[in-house]
Amino acid sequence: MYDILFEPYRLNDKITLKNRILMAPLTRCMAGPGLVPTEDMAAYYARRADAGLIVSEATIIRPDGQGYPNTPGLYTAEQIQGWRKVTDAVHAKGGLIFAQLWHTGRVAHTYFFGGEYTVAPSAVALDGTVPRMRELKYETPKALTVDEIQQLVSDYAKAAENAIEAGFDGVEIHGANAYLIDEFLHNDSNRREDEYGASPENMSRFPLQVTDAIIAAIGRERTGIRLSPGAYVNMGTDSRDREVFDYLLPQLEQRQLAYVHLGIFDDSLRFDYLDGQASAYLRHHYQQTLVGVGGYSADSASQAIAEGKFDLIAIGRPFIANPDYVAKVRQGEPTTAYSDEMLATLY
Ligand code: FNR
Repeated sequence: MYDILFEPYRLNDKITLKNRILMAPLTRCMAGPGLVPTEDMAAYYARRADAGLIVSEATIIRPDGQGYPNTPGLYTAEQIQGWRKVTDAVHAKGGLIFAQLWHTGRVAHTYFFGGEYTVAPSAVALDGTVPRMRELKYETPKALTVDEIQQLVSDYAKAAENAIEAGFDGVEIHGANAYLIDEFLHNDSNRREDEYGASPENMSRFPLQVTDAIIAAIGRERTGIRLSPGAYVNMGTDSRDREVFDYLLPQLEQRQLAYVHLGIFDDSLRFDYLDGQASAYLRHHYQQTLVGVGGYSADSASQAIAEGKFDLIAIGRPFIANPDYVAKVRQGEPTTAYSDEMLATLY
């Protein structure tokens, strides 16, 4: 019934997916001491290895990227070994897994890493508090210097190398959801007037430098990126953002990445300045492999893929509720509905 979802999909010369279903990146806040992935996490991911590709929960590239409790890292030897257990378990079940590389920028909190300040493109604080830790109010970040930006580019590349050492098949740059990379791409959070701000080309510079450094480290075939052209969380709306993404997308297309992945919770949202849905906007400006996401069922995803709206579908919450999501869809069995209480355990 959902035949199109179960067609193999060739990303490039190096990677072919056994079906078109990705497990979306899903933060679970269950890493062990030292932000090291656990055996339970290995078992959790292995149960979902029949996805065409698993994208790991967002994984911080260095300590000051942390904005939530117990999110895993990819910058110490112990973390690399912990992830090795996860990737071995997924590969043993015939799966593929990319690491999602994360720095939360101004959504970080010094509470988690014991530093003096958080960093972001500009010293503009987010109004609000850390989810489930409401006593932690977001701080005014320190605006990054150009040298500090260059250091971050190297730190992203190092984390990508670490991901390969940990056995990942590739990485997804987390450029979505108002975290560090996305903060450069929106006028609400980027008020810089140097070569990293004030024009579409300048605002795209850091995201593209990170992308190029990761390509140089691990190859374009193993590099994907997630983007949120429409501001919908932790970010103010600004219609000038459209020009930034109009510039960025053809630049990414030239780099022939593994894929571009939309970052959004609900793809039925419409953005005035994108002339509609974020997925339609991306498709219009990006002809290579595009991953859709955000409230899709097997039904609506197959239809959208058949209509060419995107090439692959990422499934998030249903994968939390159904470790056997792919088998259930393939057999036409009903799936269990997701509820927030399911986040308490790593089944
Ligand atoms: C998410 N999402 C998310 N996105 C991301 O890029 N990195 C992440 O670590 C997370 N973490 C995360 C945790 C939880 C509990 C939820 C519910 C969501 C967003 C996720 O990848 C996806 O875009 C949305 O869940 C929408 O897809 P579904 O759930 O409607 O299929």
